[in-house]
Amino acid sequence: MSALELKQGIYWVGGIDWNIRNFHGYLTEAGTTYNAYLIVDEKVTLIDTVKPSVSRQLITRIRQVIDPAKIHYIISNHVEMDHSGALPEILEYCPNATIITSKAGEKGLRRHFKQDWAFEVVKSGDTLSLGKRTLSFVNTPMVHWPDSMVTYLPDEKILFSNDIFGQHVASAERYDDECGWSYTRHHAAKYYANIVTPFGKQASKALTAVSELKIDMICPSHGLIWRSHIPNIIEAYTEWSKHNSEKKAVIVYDSMWNSTEELAVALEVGLGRAGVKCTVRNLRVNHISDIMTDVLDSRMILLGSPTLNNGMLPTMGQFLTYVKGLKPQNRIGFAFGSYGWGGQAVKEMEAAIEALNWDQPFKAINIEYIPEESEIDSAIELGEKLGSFLLDSE
Ligand code: FEO
Repeated sequence: MSALELKQGIYWVGGIDWNIRNFHGYLTEAGTTYNAYLIVDEKVTLIDTVKPSVSRQLITRIRQVIDPAKIHYIISNHVEMDHSGALPEILEYCPNATIITSKAGEKGLRRHFKQDWAFEVVKSGDTLSLGKRTLSFVNTPMVHWPDSMVTYLPDEKILFSNDIFGQHVASAERYDDECGWSYTRHHAAKYYANIVTPFGKQASKALTAVSELKIDMICPSHGLIWRSHIPNIIEAYTEWSKHNSEKKAVIVYDSMWNSTEELAVALEVGLGRAGVKCTVRNLRVNHISDIMTDVLDSRMILLGSPTLNNGMLPTMGQFLTYVKGLKPQNRIGFAFGSYGWGGQAVKEMEAAIEALNWDQPFKAINIEYIPEESEIDSAIELGEKLGSFLLDSE
């Protein structure tokens, strides 16, 4: 698609990565975009670049609007190379352009590219005149790198939010309302769950700073541009940043000979009896980045694994390592499993729940070999109790 004029003189000139399916471990089933924006003013300004693999798209789209040699400023909101990776190529066209970035941004860009480019460091509250328009900047450290910042254009009320409010979506559409709230919200939630969750406090500070701005359009660095669902996505981010979730449950498990799976089904029946919506995710067929989207929305997380070689299955170990890094808070945990001898898996899962600082109101279920009918009935009853506990929680 061509460069898209968002408002007079302001263009989307990014790259669409239709084929990417794994973004450093995150399953990007819908691909992604690396959004860059061009402001044509007395001083032509490019906001962010793209991943090197799609740099030709960026240059082609800039050329549709203006000769890239005329670029005067390049705003680097974030060092990560999906946004800075095309800087060397762009700077071949405009070698005298000045890179505007945060203090940590300059340090990070120098470490990445080993180039003595012209840098100008900005901090929150600083402004930059482009001629008719003036940009301002807000540092958003650790949302999600130390260098992260956002750029605001008060004249047109546009926030260039970089990764914040992004979604990994490749599409011919550029705006949220063209794909609908449900679709865009899902991908924004998956993005938050897998990228931003550990930085809730910092995200909250960034939201406070952003809340003071008048915003007509949010232009993130990935996915669709927000123009119709701005209050919705700000409200969703506000809830997520507080680690708030819904009174829903997700059962995450793996099984060897179906005993743990039978328990998963029994617990789901019990939760349903209590009136709780429950999602069931087998780790063998669900990607951990998709399960994290369920964890974002669910207050209760049930973890199931049989014991293998005196511990939990490697799939559960991988999942819990991932969860440990992302640190979702304010959750209720529960462990269950089966064993032939030993039975250490549930102890490991209980320890992981404790280390996450989640509430753990009920003792684990741990069944020898194959569950009896009576043990399945007990698991259903316990599922119902877990459901009632969830519904009664604050
Ligand atoms: Fe989209 Fe943190 O880079």
